[in-house]
Amino acid sequence: MPRLIDPDTGLSPTEVTLDYGAHSHALLDVEHDFPQGLTRQSFDPSSDQPSGVWRFAQLVDPELDPDQIVTLAEGNTPLYRSESLCAASLLPGLRIKHEGHNPTGSFKDRGMTVAVSRAIAGGAKALACASTGNTAASLAAYAAHAGYPAIVLLPEASTASSKLAQAIAYGARVLRVRGDFDCAMKIVAELAFRGDVALLNSANPFRIEGQKTIVFEMLQQLNWQAPDWIVFPAGNLGNCTAFGKALREALALGLIDSVPRLAAVQAEGAAPFAASFARGFDRLDTVHAETLATAIKIGAPVSFSRAVRSIRETRGEVLAVSDEEILVAKAEVDRAGLGAEPASCAAFAGAKKLALRGIIDPEETVVCVLTGHILKDPDTTLAYHEGRLGEASHANQSRIVEPDLSEIQRAVAEWDAPGRGNA
Ligand SMILES: Cc1ncc(COP(=O)(O)O)c(C=O)c1O
Repeated sequence: MPRLIDPDTGLSPTEVTLDYGAHSHALLDVEHDFPQGLTRQSFDPSSDQPSGVWRFAQLVDPELDPDQIVTLAEGNTPLYRSESLCAASLLPGLRIKHEGHNPTGSFKDRGMTVAVSRAIAGGAKALACASTGNTAASLAAYAAHAGYPAIVLLPEASTASSKLAQAIAYGARVLRVRGDFDCAMKIVAELAFRGDVALLNSANPFRIEGQKTIVFEMLQQLNWQAPDWIVFPAGNLGNCTAFGKALREALALGLIDSVPRLAAVQAEGAAPFAASFARGFDRLDTVHAETLATAIKIGAPVSFSRAVRSIRETRGEVLAVSDEEILVAKAEVDRAGLGAEPASCAAFAGAKKLALRGIIDPEETVVCVLTGHILKDPDTTLAYHEGRLGEASHANQSRIVEPDLSEIQRAVAEWDAPGRGNA
C-alpha cells in the first residue's frame, strides 16, 4: 500500500480519514517506493497497454493489483502544433496538449481511473464528488463502468449542459445544489467525513497521481526534452499540484534534466490564487466566484497549499485573464480546428498575455494544456457567435435557408463576397 503523508509535515497521519478537503490539514500526498532502475525506456508507448495513465503505472500506483484497475483507456492525448496559434500568441515554440481527447472529454479521466480503482479496492460502497461539471461526468462514467453508485453534486445555476447530460446519462445520482461549487464541495466533504461516501474530488490524493501523467506523457511526446513552460487553467488547483509533483519526481528519477516553469491561469472573477501570488502567497482570501468559464468558477480552491509548493519550486507564475480574453482565445483555438471549452482557453489567453508582457520569451518552448473538449459547453459557443455575449471579433453566424438550390447558391456567393468577413 502506498504511504499517505501530510505534505506540510512529511508525517504519516496515524488515522487516515476520508476528510479530503474539509480541512486543509487533511490534504494528503501519496508517496511511493518507486521500483529500482526506472528509465525513460520503462514506459514503452508502443506496448499493448491501452491506457496512457497505466503505461506509467510504476510512477502512479506501482502497488495496485492490475486486476483492480477500472479503466476506460484514458490518456494518450495528442500534442499539436498549430501555425495559427503560434502566430496569435507570438510563440513559435508553442505546442498544445489536448486533454479533451479523453473518454469523457476532459483531463479528469486521468485522475478518476486511479482514484476510483483505489476507492473500490479499499472497500468503498458509494463514490461521490462536488463538481463544476467535468468531475461529475468523469466519476459517473467510471463508477458506471465498475458497476458502483456515484453521487454527484453540481451547482444548479452554472453547470454546462453537456456535462449535466453526461452525468445523468451515465446513471449517476445527480443532485443540483442551489448554491455554488464551493458550497457543494463543503457538503460533500462533510458526507465523506461522516463515512457515508468516498470522496473523489482532487483533494483525493490518488486523483493527483493520475493527473501527473499529463506531464509524463507530454515529456515522453517531446522525447523527454522538457519545455521551458507549461501553461494551464487553474480552479481547484488539482492540476497545479499534480504537475509540480510529476516534475519533482521526474527530476529525482533522472527522467528530465531541467524543470519547466508552471504558469497557472485563472479567470479574473475567480482568481484567489492569482491574488495570493501577487502578495507573495501570504494567505488565501477566498472569493465569490463569477466567470463564464464555469469549469474554473471556484472561489475557495481546496489544493491551495500544495499548489503554492508547485509554483514556488518551478519559479512559476500565476495570472488572471478576463472573460473577454477567454472568449477571444477560445475563438482562436476553435478556429485552429482544435477547439476547447472556455475554461481550457484561459490557458491560451494566459500564454498570450505572458508573451506580451515579455515573461515568456519568443525563443522559449511552451506547452499549453487544453483541459476540456469543445463539445462540453455548446451554449457558450453559440451565445458568442450569435453576439449574445457582446462584441464578437470572430463571430461566425449560421443562416436559415429554404431548401432551394438557387437561394443556397446565392447565400454561398454572398458569404464569399469580399468584406463579409464570415469566410
Ligand atoms: C475543463 C477544466 N479546466 C480546468 C479545471 C480546473 O482544474 P483544477 O481544479 O485542477 O485547477 C477544471 C476543473 O473542473 C476543468 O473542468
